[in-house]
Amino acid sequence: MRLDVITIFPEYLDPLRHALLGKALERGILEVGVHDLRNWASGGHRAVDDTPFGGGPGMVMMPEIWGPALDDVAAGTRDGTVLDSATPHLDAPRHDELNGISGHSYEGESGELPLLIVPTPAGEPFTQEMARQWSNESHIVFACGRYEGIDQRVVDDAAQRYRVREISIGDYVLVGGEVAVLVMAEAIVRLIPGVLGNRSSHEEDSFSDGLLEGPSYTKPRTWRGREVPEVLFSGDHGRIARWRRDQALLRTQERRPELLDTVELSDADERALYSRNVATDLNVLINPADWGRAVAKLPKKLRKAGFDVTDIHAEIVDLTCEPDNMLVTQFEQTEGHVPVTEVLHRVLVNGRSHLDLRELTQLVVRNLPRGTYWYGTTDEGHREPGIAAACAWQDPGS
Ligand code: ADE
Repeated sequence: MRLDVITIFPEYLDPLRHALLGKALERGILEVGVHDLRNWASGGHRAVDDTPFGGGPGMVMMPEIWGPALDDVAAGTRDGTVLDSATPHLDAPRHDELNGISGHSYEGESGELPLLIVPTPAGEPFTQEMARQWSNESHIVFACGRYEGIDQRVVDDAAQRYRVREISIGDYVLVGGEVAVLVMAEAIVRLIPGVLGNRSSHEEDSFSDGLLEGPSYTKPRTWRGREVPEVLFSGDHGRIARWRRDQALLRTQERRPELLDTVELSDADERALYSRNVATDLNVLINPADWGRAVAKLPKKLRKAGFDVTDIHAEIVDLTCEPDNMLVTQFEQTEGHVPVTEVLHRVLVNGRSHLDLRELTQLVVRNLPRGTYWYGTTDEGHREPGIAAACAWQDPGS
């Protein structure tokens, strides 16, 4: 890949010679040409800007300078200063080479025209997806504006020789485009096959699956009294992968909830994101033997349906303290006689679930014998048995 950067501050691009990008230069994967815009300027001051038409603060960069500069760089007639690596690196074999993994490139836009990127706070937001696509380009030119920007006709005219994109790296204003170029160049170049020694290190990046990456840990296992999460020592790769996914989901939900709108969530993902303590509190008119059979199967059935039950309490409500109980009245009206074997129970199911509260009530009731008379609800939180129990107001101890 060849990168050309046109700027009035060529030294600003020096960081491109360091670290990872320096390594890519050394290995011939990357070539960088830096061009001083003032080389195309004339006159004593070699001015590159002028006051804006229509008035207003600041200065606008002039088309007569930018036009020829972009023409020359597109045509490859100016090499500029070709950067070399700042610090030659030992050419030790890398992770993927040792493991016989060859690089693969990401799908990109096709086109013979070079890509011209114009950094501007008024541009489209830069994304990991753009970095991925542009890591496939053979020639990218960056045009760094300063002051109030570049005369718009330069950008419009450049579309004849380039595929032009005006790009912002974030909702803040820098002094010029140079730092934005450093940011974009690094994000793009690290995705070129062979630049990172370990390919999986960018396949697990934040954003590669639409989520922020979760926390990472290394030795020692305990540091300043802080422990590395136990699951990472379990040796159970499935559990570790699930834990990592859960951490990524929870971090994304906390910091960038809007990203979740575009991610496809599995049932396990929904559980990780939306589980909270819930309590289903019901009055049920049921034969004690039937209740015994139902409760034996309840935890497993509810768990399978997405309600992770932690405890179930049931107590028999003495009807003498509630002579006109609604369920008994309903039973009598429907069945034509008073309950004989059926007894009023208060049933409390505590647990965790991502399901809707109504759905949870229905779920518990569906697992009682068909036609059971009941009323009650599910609320968020944990509920202690005994609190708010029917007839509590008649407790002789109170
Ligand atoms: N130039 C000034 N601010 C910028 C930004 N936020 N992104 C890209 N280029 C810029």
